[in-house]
Amino acid sequence: MTWRATALTLFPEMFPGPLGHSLAGRALREGRWSLDTLQIRDFATDRHRSVDDTPCGGGAGMVMRPDVVDAACAAALEGGVARPLVYLTPRGRPLEQALVRELAAGPGVILVCGRYEGLDQRVIEARGMREVSVGDFVLSGGEPAALVLLDACVRLLPGVMGGAESAEEESFSDAAAPLLEYPHYTRPVEWQGRRVPEVLLSGHHAAVARWRREMAEAATRERRPDLWARHRAAG
Ligand code: ADE
Repeated sequence: MTWRATALTLFPEMFPGPLGHSLAGRALREGRWSLDTLQIRDFATDRHRSVDDTPCGGGAGMVMRPDVVDAACAAALEGGVARPLVYLTPRGRPLEQALVRELAAGPGVILVCGRYEGLDQRVIEARGMREVSVGDFVLSGGEPAALVLLDACVRLLPGVMGGAESAEEESFSDAAAPLLEYPHYTRPVEWQGRRVPEVLLSGHHAAVARWRREMAEAATRERRPDLWARHRAAG
């Protein structure tokens, strides 16, 4: 069965975007996953086809109307197997590999992309949307965040990635105790006066493994104290 993605958006032309290329693009053409979009504006009911309105309580920006977004959700859910609704928002839970794995293992996903100040809270609750953030910064809309989530899911689908071992050793592969990856080198052995670390040229597999482990730990400790604490706690 094909893993199915549907994006609800005011800018359907942003899809598949980068996912039409490289690994994800080939997998899309091979039918390993599918992507369709629904134009949220098509579900507007008034003369002006409005999808947003001013925030109750005042303040800047516009809020997407719950009735219009709800109708788009209903259309996306129609037919086929039930798929989770994910709303991309900086207010969401940070996207982690555990959720990526969970979504990739399911039938697919319906991605709700907001513009303006976001969705009316009631439709988020009424539809049981999972609110997900791709990082502590603010994008101008949910579309690039949806593309990020999709890329992360699609590469885990059966037959999409080439080497199975690249998925193994990588950062975040070990759910309980993730470490950042060790640094990578290739030829030439000397480039602009910089040499590849000698241990990697030694042919000593145990020493290489030990060095990589140390580098992964050092990077995690220095750059991501939050991950390092989790790693330590997991033993
Ligand atoms: N929409 C705007 N900013 C976002 C973010 N950081 N993550 C997910 N969706 C967003």
